[in-house]
Amino acid sequence: MVVTREKFVSYRPIFGWFCCMAEPRQIRNLALIGFMGTGKSSTGQILAHQLGFRFLDTDALIEERAGVSISEIFEKSGEAAFRELEGRIVEELASHSETIISTGGGLGANEAHLESLKTHALVACLWAGPEAIWQRVRHQSHRPLLSGPDAQDRIREMLKQRESAYRRADILINTEMRSVKDVAQQLLYHFQEARGVS
Ligand code: S3P
Repeated sequence: MVVTREKFVSYRPIFGWFCCMAEPRQIRNLALIGFMGTGKSSTGQILAHQLGFRFLDTDALIEERAGVSISEIFEKSGEAAFRELEGRIVEELASHSETIISTGGGLGANEAHLESLKTHALVACLWAGPEAIWQRVRHQSHRPLLSGPDAQDRIREMLKQRESAYRRADILINTEMRSVKDVAQQLLYHFQEARGVS
């Protein structure tokens, strides 16, 4: 595992590629990506409150539009249909400002979606190792991808598959052994810094 407990935060060159171009990158929003159970929604809500921003949860928006739960979408229409709904929301997000965007765990693992988020948001990935994730999600039942008896193996496999994509975020924060409040505090600092607000 490349991300260690000691390495709580690592930085990506936020303005790196964009420095070669005339236009600097626009950071109007903050997007949280990362695996299921890493605390994206709870952290995002704290940040939205602290910044006075709107809070948007892509899964909640999908459920609201479909009128059914994520589990029902997976069950009745399949994962591909769910990913299509996710893709539509990603496109819409580009028109948002002052929004904290909490994404479903698969959204930020899609390279095109991640690049799209980066056009308008600082993208932070909340990280936790497979054991910590398992401890956090084991008593929850609303995640179709973790509903089988082999959930623990599934977490390990999916995390491995997704890790390289997650690591393309601007900021990577390890959430293990830290409170949601602490993670939010650190993100707030980085977001203000990226926007040039002191
Ligand atoms: C998914 C994560 C879930 C939800 C869906 C698929 C994934 O969101 O979007 O069940 O592919 O990792 P959370 O990360 O909020 O649990």
